[in-house]
Amino acid sequence: MKEKISEFLKETEAFKAENLEQLEQFRIKFLSKKGLIPGLFADFKNVAASDRRDVGQLINTLKKSVQEKIISLKSSFETTTDAEASGLDLTLPSTTQLGSRHPLSIVRNEIIDIFSRIGFTVAEGPEIEDDFHNFTALNFPKNHPARDMQDTFFIETDPDILLRTHTSSVQIRVMENTKPPIRVLLPGRVFRNEAISARAHCIFHQVEGLSIDTDVSFADLKTTLYYFAKELFGEDTKIRFRPSYFPFTEPSAEMDISCNICGGKGCNICKYTGWVEILGCGMVDPNVLEFCNIDSQKYTGYAFGMGIERVTMLKYQINDLRLFFENDIRFLKQFQSS
Ligand code: PHE
Repeated sequence: MKEKISEFLKETEAFKAENLEQLEQFRIKFLSKKGLIPGLFADFKNVAASDRRDVGQLINTLKKSVQEKIISLKSSFETTTDAEASGLDLTLPSTTQLGSRHPLSIVRNEIIDIFSRIGFTVAEGPEIEDDFHNFTALNFPKNHPARDMQDTFFIETDPDILLRTHTSSVQIRVMENTKPPIRVLLPGRVFRNEAISARAHCIFHQVEGLSIDTDVSFADLKTTLYYFAKELFGEDTKIRFRPSYFPFTEPSAEMDISCNICGGKGCNICKYTGWVEILGCGMVDPNVLEFCNIDSQKYTGYAFGMGIERVTMLKYQINDLRLFFENDIRFLKQFQSS
């Protein structure tokens, strides 16, 4: 009897069905009322007492094996029939839709690439900041109207904690932890309580740069930014600086580039001035250095900061900032990059 069961087991393991019909025949053969397995159980009473344990176990193994075989073959038929029923040809080559980088990532990477060629590294900091790093250490006195320049989102339960309004907070974190010389770029997401329009959003992206060493001058700042503007917008790009104010830089300036759309002749993008503003900059205020325990008698530095959305809009002539956030595939697929 043992040999007979072993034969059945082998047969079961080797069994293949080409269709549901064959599988059903197999089921009937082994499991139906008059099938082989009920037959074995019927013969069981004739088995010698000493053999019963072994034979009983073997019959159960066989039964389990048959049942598992049926389940696995059945599910394989079901999947193919589903695919066939829906007219799916699984052997067809796929129609691939290649992804592409977001335009803001493309431009951010390009900015990082340009500055890394002249020795800048990259650092990042937290988006949820404290008042010290976002304001106080950047020389914004408490209750000073300069804080109103940036419409801050505070965390309701704690007025000391806020969403950073600029990446300048990361300047402070870097200076706290690094001994000069420092040459670093700070890309990141920033938050301001502004109404969403074609030109503004409450979430946007900045890249800031910071360079601190002995004898860093405004001339270094200008040369560096001139190099940057030509690399990003083309060799013919001109720059100009206008005096401005930021609490953390002195002197401060805003930099314009010659309008890359009309080449400086005047168009509606540059409002017929021939110039467009792209960034704020200046020499790091000695107070800021001192807040970070850097000797302002020994070291000087410059900083600059720009909005990535703004630069991207100019570079690709995009006229509505909201497009960056809508994830419309028709917009995104126009930007291919390696
Ligand atoms: N943090 C400034 C802003 O967000 C930009 C800036 C950075 C200006 C560094 C000067 C120096 O508007």
